[in-house]
Amino acid sequence: MSKKLLDVFKGIVPDTPPLWMMRQAGRYLPEYRKIREKHPFLEMVCNPELATEITLQPIKRFGFDGAILFSDILVIPEAMGMKLNFFEGRGPVFDSPVKTKADVANLNIESIKGNLSYVGEALNLIKTAMPRETTLIGFAGAPFTLACYMIEGQSSKEFIKIKSFMYQQEPAFNTLMEKLSHALVDYIELQIQSGAEVIQLFDTFGGILSPSDYQRYCLAPTRQIFSRLKERFPETPLIYFVKAGRNMYSLIADFPIDGLGVDWMTPLSEATTLPFVVQGNLDPMVLFSNKSVIDREVARIKAEGKHAKGHIFNLGHGILPQTPLENVEYLCEAVRGLG
Ligand code: CP3
Repeated sequence: MSKKLLDVFKGIVPDTPPLWMMRQAGRYLPEYRKIREKHPFLEMVCNPELATEITLQPIKRFGFDGAILFSDILVIPEAMGMKLNFFEGRGPVFDSPVKTKADVANLNIESIKGNLSYVGEALNLIKTAMPRETTLIGFAGAPFTLACYMIEGQSSKEFIKIKSFMYQQEPAFNTLMEKLSHALVDYIELQIQSGAEVIQLFDTFGGILSPSDYQRYCLAPTRQIFSRLKERFPETPLIYFVKAGRNMYSLIADFPIDGLGVDWMTPLSEATTLPFVVQGNLDPMVLFSNKSVIDREVARIKAEGKHAKGHIFNLGHGILPQTPLENVEYLCEAVRGLG
């Protein structure tokens, strides 16, 4: 049984592009909300049986080509010793954000695989339970995006704390990025050894930096993750999703990656000039429109995607909890040429 999503990375061109959606296991699904009523978010993440069930919910409902592990990028800072809470309506919050060089020194990167062994268990379970044609996607946050949460302590609009820390305490910032790189390589290694077939690194906040700051502060530690993984696991495709990252394209053009996740603010035609499989570009808000708008956007993205080294259909960022299910259903039909 061939796997359509994995095949794209081998240069095989399918009739219609493989499809999955960022945040596909989440609150827009009634079956997710039902489990969520009974369990706090982190409990769901840390319980391999629940994580497996939730990972497979969107596969059962929509037959997506990729099953992305149900977890969160912030399990890494937690495994490094930071206490994480999720508050309703406020999102993730760290009790004691990183403020000083000593805070960075205190972060523990020695027991990542041990502390996150539940992720390995979940991946093993998902791998056995999922359909044979589905590709299992592992993921992690990119070091800069994780550093944003670790220093800001929560979501932010202006990113004053992270940028002040980066400019004023550059050596400590560099140490933090290096520690994160090491932890992330260990964590992704665990995921690949537990059955993840493709890896996506989420750099949700990479685009808040000027290209020159991205180059100075982020390029090397981010690239290092990909090169180390490529060396150890040359067969596993690596996707880099950098939101609002268009201005960084010339800097990342020679990253040792296989796929590039594209937001909706970037013309897909710009991404397809790079030597990568492209993925994404649909504005998640298009799922709040109607069949004719969905048809128009799917046709555009499919046509533009043909110019890439390979094309995976996805949104330009995560699906929103309020998204109407019937539009997701119609999107699947349209992408599969049945609309
Ligand atoms: O894509 C998937 O379905 C896999 C699961 C996944 C989640 N978070 C589940 C989740 C993935 C890949 C993530 C990544 C993630 N988490 C990112 C990077 C990608 C992105 O979307 O930008 C970031 C920045 C986070 C941090 C995070 N986790 C935030 C800001 C929030 C709050 C969001 C909100 O709207 O409340 C979370 C919680 C979270 N992660 C939920 C889910 C399904 C919602 C939790 C709930 O049920 O209350």
